[in-house]
Amino acid sequence: MSAENIKDAVKEKYSQAALRAQTGRSACCRTSSAQSCCDPITSNLYSAQESGALPEAAVLASLGCGNPTALAQLNPGEVVLDLGSGGGIDVLLSARRVAPGGKAYGLDMTDEMLALARENQRKAGIENAEFLKGEIENIPLPDNSVDVIISNCVINLSADKDRVFREAFRVLRPGGRFAVSDVVVTADVPAEIRKSVELWIGCIAGALRDAEYRSKLASAGFERIEIEPTRVYDIEDARQFLAAQGIDVDRIAPQVAGKFMSAFIRAGKPAHKRP
Ligand SMILES: C[S@@+](CC[C@H](N)C(=O)[O-])C[C@H]1O[C@@H](n2cnc3c(N)ncnc32)[C@H](O)[C@@H]1O
Repeated sequence: MSAENIKDAVKEKYSQAALRAQTGRSACCRTSSAQSCCDPITSNLYSAQESGALPEAAVLASLGCGNPTALAQLNPGEVVLDLGSGGGIDVLLSARRVAPGGKAYGLDMTDEMLALARENQRKAGIENAEFLKGEIENIPLPDNSVDVIISNCVINLSADKDRVFREAFRVLRPGGRFAVSDVVVTADVPAEIRKSVELWIGCIAGALRDAEYRSKLASAGFERIEIEPTRVYDIEDARQFLAAQGIDVDRIAPQVAGKFMSAFIRAGKPAHKRP
């Protein structure tokens, strides 16, 4: 699987998901379009108050694995950037939290997702948000221009995570915060899972080990790195999905049960350059 193949497969998968959401169906990440969205990673992430304050299409388009804006500290006047903003749910929630005076950017590479997010923004009547087209490995914003980076179930999809962390570090202001939800593993992922494109684009095969997440963030320059589990998955959570990819679920169960989790990852850019 080359990085370009992964990117093309991710774009294709999420353009289909955006088109599903535009027709009023759930965009749901890991189930096929024939199934209903009841997957254990994406379901029930937002409070009734949060969902109720947004257009239904924005909620239906949610494909995250956490609720980074609920866990991140966001203050009025700040600039927030959401890496892989999808249908825009976290950008719209953040935009409200940083008003007045602040702004929320969403960044996504998939045209259909950008169109959906902009339509959701219009329906929500939110003005202090902007959706940018681009890749999280090459963020189209200047150095030191963002206070908080959020992201929801996207970094695991990248084939070049070191570059994503370096770019996040570059655009954050000194003292800026990195506060993302992502899928993380606590053991080596079996090779048959790693090599499946379907499982990569379903947010499973590309997940980093917790220790690797920390060391890659530290190599990019981040400090105060914390990984807090928000949901730990059982083998039954993924049985149908793994079996559909031809994986012998019972054989790999001891290697994966309880080892995949959604986590909230926090880190900070040092406030001052080290001498
Ligand atoms: C699993 S969905 C999550 C969407 C959104 N964060 C949410 O919580 O609903 C992944 C999104 O990230 C985008 N994406 C994946 N890889 C990307 C990359 N390398 N650069 C920019 N966007 C990317 C996809 O187009 C898709 O919209």
